[in-house]
Amino acid sequence: MNAINFSGKNVLVVGGSSGIGNGIARVFRDHGATVFVCGTRASAADYKSDEDGSDFTGMTYFQWDVSDDTTVENLTPPFASLDVLVLSQGLVMYKRAEFQMPNFRHVLDVNLMSVMSCCMKFHDMLVATKGSVVIVGSSASFYSVFGNPAYSASKGALVTLTKTLAEAWAPEGIRVNGIAPGLVATKITKVTWDHPRRYEESLKEIPLHRWGTPEEMGGVTLFLASSLSAYVTGQMILVDGGKGLA
Ligand SMILES: NC(=O)c1ccc[n+]([C@@H]2O[C@H](COP(=O)([O-])OP(=O)(O)OC[C@H]3O[C@@H](n4cnc5c(N)ncnc54)[C@H](OP(=O)(O)O)[C@@H]3O)[C@@H](O)[C@H]2O)c1
Repeated sequence: MNAINFSGKNVLVVGGSSGIGNGIARVFRDHGATVFVCGTRASAADYKSDEDGSDFTGMTYFQWDVSDDTTVENLTPPFASLDVLVLSQGLVMYKRAEFQMPNFRHVLDVNLMSVMSCCMKFHDMLVATKGSVVIVGSSASFYSVFGNPAYSASKGALVTLTKTLAEAWAPEGIRVNGIAPGLVATKITKVTWDHPRRYEESLKEIPLHRWGTPEEMGGVTLFLASSLSAYVTGQMILVDGGKGLA
């Protein structure tokens, strides 16, 4: 049996409309999965002009703003069963905006609270399939981020949320793991990759001396959702080109 053949499996990537989430969705699609992606805009066509090359071919897109518990609870998903839930939604606010309480709270709502509400939303479906959850944390789950207290606090909390859900749901056959990306060129990191000096500086901190790609995040996510990692749960794996080593 091919452990990374996801034919017949339903995969939902929340935040699959762009960047890392879309890369993860493409990798699952290319390994046979039936892939569902969602984002905040009305339709997939609304992402066509974005620079990050999102591709929805062969996937089903639906609009779902997860920042609000009620919207999460009220969704009627376009599938009846779910094997893999990937949570790649996230945002960051620059120019010290996260030091203002309404902004701090909003970032936590999207980056942390919605991860829990989405996990609860699909818990019963995941029990039925003995499925798995992959949470997208960040290298910021382990280190401070200068000027971004909400982003780093939300991502730090995902490490212990991953461990706690993994422990709670192991008896039901659900595995819960995470990936912690380093730097990947997407909408939220444009301030660095689109700025030559900042970009060159960032490379000095990465032993592999390059940024990661959305597909590389997808590869580790695929591994964590596959039977190759059947004995792994509660782990948040750094996928950062060695950035955290020094
Ligand atoms: N890029 C990096 O270097 C990096 C590093 C570490 C961790 N991460 C994490 O990777 C994940 C994906 O980020 P990215 O870099 O790929 O940035 P991105 O391209 O901006 O993707 C963020 C995704 O989250 C969705 N989202 C934001 N707010 C939402 C809401 N209220 N409801 C539903 N969906 C919402 C976005 O939907 P829309 O497209 O509709 O806005 C988009 O699909 C995030 O959790 C981020 O923290 C990224």
